[in-house]
Amino acid sequence: MKLWLIGFMGSGKSTIGGLLASKLGYSFIDTDLIISQECGLSVEKIFARYGAPHFRTLEAQLIARLRAKSSCVIATGGGMPIYNKLGEGLVCYLCVDFEVLYMRLLQDGTPRPLFKDKTTLYQLYTERTPIYAHLAQHTFSANQTPPQVVAEILALLRQVEL
Ligand code: S3P
Repeated sequence: MKLWLIGFMGSGKSTIGGLLASKLGYSFIDTDLIISQECGLSVEKIFARYGAPHFRTLEAQLIARLRAKSSCVIATGGGMPIYNKLGEGLVCYLCVDFEVLYMRLLQDGTPRPLFKDKTTLYQLYTERTPIYAHLAQHTFSANQTPPQVVAEILALLRQVEL
């Protein structure tokens, strides 16, 4: 089984994904981290130096490489499922209220090239949230703490065949 976690920036995909993978004994894959390590640059610097389309190409190439993987939890970058088709697997959307996300992003030290101000962030949020919901087989409220979300995902997985 391959589990994709999708959702907006700041929805907790990496934290929840890491916890979930260790509970399941699966490997954990953080797509932003892999791309950043392979380029030797932060995501912010990749955007600044090579542009957003180049980053999206790197994401598409990574998805292709992940096709062969199984028994893994994949935390995607917020734009990955918007610009690219994900491969096989169970897609879970971590849904968070805008104000909660906004506060998290303000407090989070990670520079995000697409987080410029509240108005444009909200615009992106309203564009993307219906797409995430449409792409996912399951949606989880991630306004709650990561362990609570992990518990809900594990409960779902007990019902579907692993
Ligand atoms: C992006 C989200 C970021 C990162 C890049 C672009 C997006 O990942 O991939 O800055 O388009 O929403 P997080 O969702 O982990 O912040």
